Amino acid sequence: MPNYTKKDFPTHNVRRFLEPGPIVLVSSEHKGETNIMTMGWHMVMEFQPSLVGCIISSANHSFEMIRKSRQCVINIPTEDIATTVVKIGNSSGRDIDKFAEFGLTAAPGTHVRAPLIAECYANFECRLVDASQVKKYNMFIFEVVKAHVATAPKVPKTIHYRGDGEFMISGANTSRYRRLFRPEML
Ligand SMILES: Cc1cc2nc3c(=O)[nH]c(=O)nc-3n(C[C@H](O)[C@H](O)[C@H](O)COP(=O)(O)O)c2cc1C
Repeated sequence: MPNYTKKDFPTHNVRRFLEPGPIVLVSSEHKGETNIMTMGWHMVMEFQPSLVGCIISSANHSFEMIRKSRQCVINIPTEDIATTVVKIGNSSGRDIDKFAEFGLTAAPGTHVRAPLIAECYANFECRLVDASQVKKYNMFIFEVVKAHVATAPKVPKTIHYRGDGEFMISGANTSRYRRLFRPEML
């Protein structure tokens, strides 16, 4: 068992340990305009219906586009487009057309008008089902109504943000602990 020596740590920085779910790209469409933002603050909330909570700053151009259109696509990028992912997160759709600027392909969805990003490993079409926490927390609760996932590679090299400009690329995959699960917990 590890035996760690600990020190006080600023509470506002605990995100550096909790955050590393995959960084996603949120694409949106409103009144003919499309946009993309980078997002790390998301959380799975329910299996069925498939609910995902997302924090989208009201300072972002995407905020009003998604609040008004009540839909978006959550796209999962991989390491090979990490530079683009950071650039998307450091620019605004107020100033540029991010699909054109970063050479990304907007593919049509089947359930929402927001475009899928073809260069991403997976695309989840989402509808805004609960806006009750938007005003207080900028938190949008989406239902994933359609999912498109690449057939290969089996385990994508996803990008995980650790704060302060540091990233982690998903590494070793193991089924070593699978036998310890109760079937209903898998
Ligand atoms: C790694 C990374 C993670 C980010 N996570 C979030 C997030 O969870 N929520 C958010 O509102 N903005 C987040 N941002 C910032 C937005 O991506 C950024 O403000 C974006 O450019 C907004 O674009 P828009 O004005 O076109 O909507 C993140 C940026 C980066 C680089």
